Amino acid sequence: MYYPQELIDEVQQNNDIVDVINEYIPLTKKGSNYVCICPFHADTNPSLMVSRQKQLFKCFACGEGGNVFTFLQKYDSKTFVEAVQTLAQRSGIKLPETYTGEFSKEKQDKKLRMIECNTEAARYFYAFLRSDAGKVGLDYFKKRELSDETMKKFGLGFADINGSVVKYLKNQGFTDKEILDSGLGTFDERNGLRSKFWNRVMFPIKNQAGKVIGFGGRVLGDGEPKYLNSPETPIFNKSTNLYAFDIARASRSKYFILCEGYMDVIALHQAGFNMAVASLGTAFTPGQANIIKRYANDVYLSYDSDGPGVTAAIRAAKICREFGLSCKVINMKPYKDPDEFIKNLGKEEFQKRIDEAKNAFIFEIGTLREKYDPSDPDANTRYDNEVAALLAEMKDEVVRTNYIKACAKEMGISVDTLTNMVAKEAGRLRNFNRPVREQSGIHEKKDDSKARLQQLMLTYLAEYPSIYPQIKDYVSPDDFWEEPYKEVATKFFEDLKNGNASPARMVNMFEDEEVQNTVSNMFTSTLSGVEDKEEIAGALVDIIFRLKSNSLDEKRKSEAGLDPKEYMEKKKELMEIRKIKITIPE
Ligand code: UTP
Ligand code: MN
Repeated sequence: MYYPQELIDEVQQNNDIVDVINEYIPLTKKGSNYVCICPFHADTNPSLMVSRQKQLFKCFACGEGGNVFTFLQKYDSKTFVEAVQTLAQRSGIKLPETYTGEFSKEKQDKKLRMIECNTEAARYFYAFLRSDAGKVGLDYFKKRELSDETMKKFGLGFADINGSVVKYLKNQGFTDKEILDSGLGTFDERNGLRSKFWNRVMFPIKNQAGKVIGFGGRVLGDGEPKYLNSPETPIFNKSTNLYAFDIARASRSKYFILCEGYMDVIALHQAGFNMAVASLGTAFTPGQANIIKRYANDVYLSYDSDGPGVTAAIRAAKICREFGLSCKVINMKPYKDPDEFIKNLGKEEFQKRIDEAKNAFIFEIGTLREKYDPSDPDANTRYDNEVAALLAEMKDEVVRTNYIKACAKEMGISVDTLTNMVAKEAGRLRNFNRPVREQSGIHEKKDDSKARLQQLMLTYLAEYPSIYPQIKDYVSPDDFWEEPYKEVATKFFEDLKNGNASPARMVNMFEDEEVQNTVSNMFTSTLSGVEDKEEIAGALVDIIFRLKSNSLDEKRKSEAGLDPKEYMEKKKELMEIRKIKITIPE
């Protein structure tokens, strides 16, 4: 269900972002903007800025940003449509009951259908678990000591042996293609469309907004695979979602407990640890760390105590460290995983283990120590070197220094000695001073300075729309060469031309929370920046120049290319740009 753009604009115009956010968190005026403690990460200084002029917010610490709708989506785990409805009500605007009009975007609709399909399937599995034929599933969960309340909270269900969910979905009006695209079906020539899941207990997987985007299904006894998971689909990105994250985030705990499995999370929640989450049948990813980082600074690892569990924990800890998350390891011994631990020793004991959890790096070098014979001096040297090599990988100097101190103590050598060893190892690594997050994977491909140019251009245009007529002959959306910048610039320039530009509206063009963030940030890159008008004018000329020369280079490199003559001409035009004069209005 989507509303026409005019109606969304009207709702937005009648709900000033400053007033709305102020109803949730008190705002203080700072210059021409407002600030408050950021609710999206463990904030101590007010780092969230709100701009009345742009109708956008942005946290300068965690990077969350958006318009008034995104604020509610993030703060209250609402969907976009729900946020529109809430704000329409707040401002007394009447919305049509249902709306599916020409304004709805095909892509958004497809995703919406996929979520609907998964939601319907979850309903079906849930009801089936409680039917006579679903008794095997219910018995299975009971045997695993799950309460009715827990089963309900997680929407657990059962996929029957005949895969009847497919028939149900078809009756609900979903096409074969929709069922396949949603990850719920498989297809082969002989059998046609069949349910992917059959004879398994089902764990619905939800996104940050609490919508069902996929499933994990467990065999009842032994069998392979033990857990069958939905494939990645346009709505189910395994590396940026976490199991039970919607509940854990709402718990507003200062830390998260990270587990390996669905059952571990559920057992922990049942014992009152609502901040437990798990990665989704894959290893913990940088994308997941990035999401956690917005809400907390501490992660407790509650991985299996066996060999693979320890290796996975060490890997996860390293990713956490790269995101500045402080990471501790919960000792589960003598039990295999948190599920078994809680069953045997109860929640008070588990809380004690949380309180006693060891820093993950100290834990790592402890497990390393076990590989070397302490009575052999050569083995000790090798151990010391190996620790030094690990320390050398830490790129943040403060972090590294503190770890060197702590490790020196554990190892029984002096801080100076260890510092020297680390420096030697670092020389070998040659990446001593690279930024902390550089190798984390998600920022890897982005060329930050180029992205920044495109952002600055849009930010200044948002701040001073009246410069548009002065620059329109020199710069165009064609000079933005990356998505989503290009798409946003195209629309924004068009709106500027028509005199109704609104950066906050641009955010609504996209559905994905991460993309919304990116778009919002395009318009807020200098919320608290330079004030001197001449300086800004100078900066703008420079930005336009660099933007154009970059886009020229990109064009020359591209497949279609530019012929040398054309290139020279453009290069000449480029030099003219340096001479333009821009006046920033008071
Ligand atoms: P485990 O094998 O440790 O299972 O896998 P578990 O969580 O202890 O499950 P129970 O207690 O036997 O029911 C941990 C996680 O790894 C993923 C699942 O997410 C699982 O919860 N996994 C495991 C799979 O995706 N596929 C598999 O075949 C096995
Ligand atoms: Mn288990």
